[in-house]
Amino acid sequence: MNKAVRKAVIAGNWKMNKTPKEAKELLSAVAPLVKEADCEVIACVPFVDLQTAIETTDGTNIKIGAENCHWAESGAFTGEISAPMLKEMGVEYVVLGHSERRQYFGETDETVNKRTKAALRAGLKPIVCVGELLWERECNITEEVIARQIKLDLWDVSAEELKNIIIAYEPVWAIGTGKTATAEQAEEVCAFIRATLAKLYDPAAAEAVTIQYGGSMNDGNADELLGKTNVDGGLIGGASLVAEKFAAIVKAASK
Ligand code: PGA
Repeated sequence: MNKAVRKAVIAGNWKMNKTPKEAKELLSAVAPLVKEADCEVIACVPFVDLQTAIETTDGTNIKIGAENCHWAESGAFTGEISAPMLKEMGVEYVVLGHSERRQYFGETDETVNKRTKAALRAGLKPIVCVGELLWERECNITEEVIARQIKLDLWDVSAEELKNIIIAYEPVWAIGTGKTATAEQAEEVCAFIRATLAKLYDPAAAEAVTIQYGGSMNDGNADELLGKTNVDGGLIGGASLVAEKFAAIVKAASK
C-alpha cells in the first residue's frame, strides 16, 4: 500500500452466502471489531441482504456494496437489478466482472463495460475485477489478458470517472482455492495494471487508483500482500464470512 497517495480499501465479497438474518448477525459482529480502522471497510452482500446490511451498519464505518448490477436503468430484464435501484437504497459500491460471473453467467468484457458505465452514471462506485486463468498464466500471457480486460472494461470511462473506480486483481486460479498468489506475483500484476492505466489515462490518474488483490487473502497472508507498494487493499471472499478473520485483514490494512 502507499497510503500517502491512495486509499486502502478492504472489501468483503460474500458471494451467495448469508440470509438476511445471518447478515445482520455477521455485520453486528464485524462492526465493533473494525470501528478503529484506518482504511475503507466495505461489505458486498447478496441483493436480498442489502436492506438489512444498510440498516445494521448505519452509524458505523462499514460501507455496503452489491455484487452486480444491470446496465439498463429499467426495462424488460426479468430477474435483474439496476444501478439506480441500488443507489436509491443507499448502496455505495458494486462488484462488477467477478470471475464467477464471467465463468458461470456468460459475463463478457463488453457487458462488464456496460455495467461499469451504468454504475458510474447512477453514482455507484464500481469494483471492477480482472484476472487471468491458470492456463493463461502458464502460457505466459497474463499481461496480455489483464491489459485487454482493463482496456475493454474501462472503455469510454473518463479520467474523472476513474476516480470512483476500484480495480480488483483476482487471479482466477487463486479464488476459493486456498492458493494465494505470492506477494511478488500480486505486486507484479498490480503494478502492471497501474502502468496500463498510466498509458490509457495519465500517470497521476493511475497513481490515485486503488488496486486490490483478491484470491484466498486471509488473516495469515494479508500483512505480506498489503506490504507491497501497488497492493492497496483486498477483495475478500471466504475470510469475509468470519468476523474475526475479516477484522484481522482490516487491521493489517490499517497499519
Ligand atoms: P476468496 O474469494 O477470498 O474466497 O478466494 C475472493 C473473491 O472471489 O473475491
